[in-house]
Amino acid sequence: MLSSQSLSITNESKQDSEYNKICEDYKHMLKTLPKGNGWRVQHLYNYNGFWLDSDTLKTNMILNTYFKTQPTDIFLASFMKTGTTWLKALMFSIINRHRYTFSDHYLHHHGPQSTFPLIDSEIYPVNDFTHINAPRLFATHYARDILPLCMTSCKFVYICRDPKDVLTSKWIFMSKLRSKDLTPLLLGEAFELFCQGVSEYGPYWEHVLSYWRASLESPDKILFMKYEDMKKQPKVELKKLAAFLGNPFTLEEVEKGVVEEIVRLCSFENLSKLEVNKKGVERFGKLVEVEKRDFFRKGEIGDWRNYLSKEMKDRIDGIFDEKLKGSGLVLTSRD
Ligand code: A3P
Repeated sequence: MLSSQSLSITNESKQDSEYNKICEDYKHMLKTLPKGNGWRVQHLYNYNGFWLDSDTLKTNMILNTYFKTQPTDIFLASFMKTGTTWLKALMFSIINRHRYTFSDHYLHHHGPQSTFPLIDSEIYPVNDFTHINAPRLFATHYARDILPLCMTSCKFVYICRDPKDVLTSKWIFMSKLRSKDLTPLLLGEAFELFCQGVSEYGPYWEHVLSYWRASLESPDKILFMKYEDMKKQPKVELKKLAAFLGNPFTLEEVEKGVVEEIVRLCSFENLSKLEVNKKGVERFGKLVEVEKRDFFRKGEIGDWRNYLSKEMKDRIDGIFDEKLKGSGLVLTSRD
C-alpha cells in the first residue's frame, strides 16, 4: 500500500505531467491554429470557433484540466465591455448586503474588479480558490462553448449590450492597452475585424448566442441580462438578479429602500467618482495592467453615434440581425 507521502508525490508528479502535456499541446496549437489580428496584442488564435490571445488560450486549456466547481458557485459571464464591472459590483453588493453598511461599504475602498476573480487571467493550478467562502463568485469572458464542462451545471448571469456600443467601447479600451510595439489600431480596422468576428473572445454574435441558447434551455441556471434594460429600469433588473442569485429582497428591505441604495452605490455616477476607482492599476495575470479609471468611461447607451458612420451602423445591424435571425434575440437598437 502507498503511504500518504508517496501518494502525494504520485499526485504531484501526475499533475506535473498533466501540466507539461498542456504546455506541449499549447505550443503545438500556437503553430497550427488559424491566426487573426489582435486588438491588444499582435495575434489572436481561433480555438474551437472563438478568437483568443495566446495567454487566454493557455488559461482556457489549463482551466479545462484543473478547475473544480462547487455546486453553489455562481459565474458572471460577459463579452468584454458589456457591463462586467457594473454587474460585479451589483452581484457582490446583493450577496454581501448584510456585511456592509451603505455609508461605509467595501466598494468605497476597493474597485469592483477586486470583488471576485476573473478566472481567465488567473494562474493555475497555483490558485485553486478553495479558500473562498460559498457561494463563490467568478467572472469569465469565455464563450459558453469553450468553458470546462463542470462549470455548465452552475448558475450563470450573462450580460450583453448593443454591438455598436461594444465595438466603440472595446476599441477605445483596447487602444489604451495595445502594445506600444504595434501601430495603433484605427477605428476602421477595428470595425472590419469586429464585423468578421475577429476580436478577443469573439465573434461577439457567437458569444451571445452560446449563452442565449443555454438560457432558453435552462432558465433557472442562466439569467440573461441586457445593459440597456439595466440602464432603463435598474430596480426591476436588480430585483430579478437578486431573486436569481437566491437572495431575493424581502418586503422589509424593499420598504427600507435597500434596492435603491444598491442601485445608487453601483451606479456609474457614484463608482466613477470614488477615489479608489480613479487612481492605480488593476492587474490581470502576469502581463496585463489596466488603469482603474479606464473601466469607467461614459456608461451611456448610444455613444457609438459619436464614432460610427451611418454605413457602419447599417452594416453592424445587418450582420447581427442576420446572425441572430430565428433565435428570438434582438441586440441592436432600432432608433
Ligand atoms: P463605455 O466605454 O461605453 O462607457 P466592462 O465592465 O465589461 O469592461 O464594460 C465597460 C463599460 O461599462 C464601459 O462603457 C463603462 O463606462 C461602463 N460602465 C462601467 N461601470 C458602469 C456602471 N456602474 N454603470 C453603467 N456602466 C458602467
